[in-house]
Amino acid sequence: MSADLHARLLDDAALESSSVVANNAMNRLRGLSGVNSYARELGFDPYERLATILRGNPHAAVRWIDVCCGSGRALLEAEDRFATEFPTADIAITGIDLVNHFLATPRTPHLRLLTASAATWHPDAPADLVTCVHGLHYLGDKLAVLTAMTQWTRPGGSFAADFDPHAIRNPDGSSAARPVLAELRAAGLTYDRRRRRLSGTDFRPPNFTAAYLGADDTAGPGYTGQHAVTSYYDFG
Ligand SMILES: C[S@@+](CC[C@H](N)C(=O)[O-])C[C@H]1O[C@@H](n2cnc3c(N)ncnc32)[C@H](O)[C@@H]1O
Repeated sequence: MSADLHARLLDDAALESSSVVANNAMNRLRGLSGVNSYARELGFDPYERLATILRGNPHAAVRWIDVCCGSGRALLEAEDRFATEFPTADIAITGIDLVNHFLATPRTPHLRLLTASAATWHPDAPADLVTCVHGLHYLGDKLAVLTAMTQWTRPGGSFAADFDPHAIRNPDGSSAARPVLAELRAAGLTYDRRRRRLSGTDFRPPNFTAAYLGADDTAGPGYTGQHAVTSYYDFG
C-alpha cells in the first residue's frame, strides 16, 4: 500500500462523520413500490414477500430488518399496509440508519426506526427478510456487514442488497471483485451483475478471511453517480 493511500484510509469513526456518508443529497426517500422504490431496487416488493408468509400462516411471526433505511419511508408504508391487511399479526419491522432523518414516528409497536451504525448494531433475533438498499456503498468494512446481514437472515428467509464488488480493493488499489464474488457464490448467494444486486434465499453466511484495512471516501462517484466509499482489504 502506498504511503499516500495509507494516510487516506479512514476508520469507522472518521468515515461516519465524512461528508460522503453524512450527506443530505443522497436518496433516502424510496417508498415501497413505484418509480423510486424498494421494489424497483430489490426486484421484488418486500411487503408482498412478507404478506405471502402471513397469507399462508396467519399465526407466523414475521420479521424484516432494513439496514441503512434512510428516511424509513418504505418501512412506514409497510407498517400502514400491514395494519390494514393484518391488524392482529405478529409483525416486527426494524430500520436502522446512521442519521436520524426519519420521515415520521412509527404509528404502531410493529415498526422501530433506530439511529445506529450498521458497523456495530446487532438484532435480537434473525429475520425473514434482511435488506440493504444502496447502503453498503457508504460502509467501511462492507464484507463484515454483508456477512452479518446474512447471519441475521433466518434459514429459508430472504436477503437482498445493492452491492458493488469493485468497491472492495486490494492494498495496491486494484479491484478485489473476483475473490469476493467467488466466495459469495460459493455461499449460495446470487449476484446480478447488471443490477449490481446481491440476493439469496438458500445460502450460508460467506466466510471472508481478508483483513480489513480501512475506507477511502475520496474515490469519487460509484455506479449510482453519487460519491461512494471504497474499502481496502488484505487478501493475503
Ligand atoms: C442512499 S441512502 C439509502 C436510504 C434508503 N435505503 C433508501 O433507499 O431510501 C444510504 C443510507 O445509508 C446510511 N448510512 C451510511 N452509513 C451508515 C452506517 N454506518 N450505518 C447505518 N446507516 C448508514 C445513510 O445515512 C443513508 O441514509
